[in-house]
Amino acid sequence: MNDHAATTPGDQFGHLLDHEYDGIREYDNPTPGWWHLIFAGTVLFGVVYFSFFTFSPMAWTPQSALAAAQTREFQRLFAEIGELAPDEPTIRSLMGDEKWMAVAQGLFATNCVSCHGPEGQGLVGPNLTDDAYKNVMTLTDIPRVITDGAANGAMPAWGARLHPNEIVLLSAYVADLRGKNLPGPRGPEGDTIPPWD
Ligand code: HEC
Repeated sequence: MNDHAATTPGDQFGHLLDHEYDGIREYDNPTPGWWHLIFAGTVLFGVVYFSFFTFSPMAWTPQSALAAAQTREFQRLFAEIGELAPDEPTIRSLMGDEKWMAVAQGLFATNCVSCHGPEGQGLVGPNLTDDAYKNVMTLTDIPRVITDGAANGAMPAWGARLHPNEIVLLSAYVADLRGKNLPGPRGPEGDTIPPWD
């Protein structure tokens, strides 16, 4: 500390340092300890966060978190209804059931709309809202086609990818789509089949 510093007004800000650049001088005010702690903390957090989400097999992505949440939700729902049989009475009882058809709509949106269109009106795959079908004559043909696929995999086999209950729910949803008669890009394909009832 020199004489000049001791007599400078504003000494309450701490003592004035010796150096001077272009007439500018500065007080000795180090950043406080808590500030350093927060700074070091954010750096440490960044290192841990980056390493965990980049390298750890236990890290999750938004997609995997959603899939896990969906699986938990389906397990909860399926515990409620037990095992659904892919038969006519079961499919009929689910058709028009608002709650289960809402679940099925989610499944359809995730797995089927890329080929059958957002409303089932057809795209790469046939229109599911009209009365013409290629592989379906009766209600129970629907779970069979979904499980085994058709046309050498042009319609994929979902048996190994979906829970059996999901296939029955989707079957009821597909059966419900019939009669909406939405205009699709492909026109009717296959034969006109007798009504479900
Ligand atoms: C990769 C495209 C693709 C996806 C994804 C797909 N389908 Fe298909 N689907 C097709 C094609 C193509 C056909 C027609 C097969 C044929 O020509 O015999 C078909 C046929 C069907 C049929 C029989 C229709 C008929 O006229 O006989 C049903 C029912 C069906 N799909 C339901 C579903 C459901 C439910 C899903 C979702 C789980 C699904 N599809 C996902 C392409 C797809």
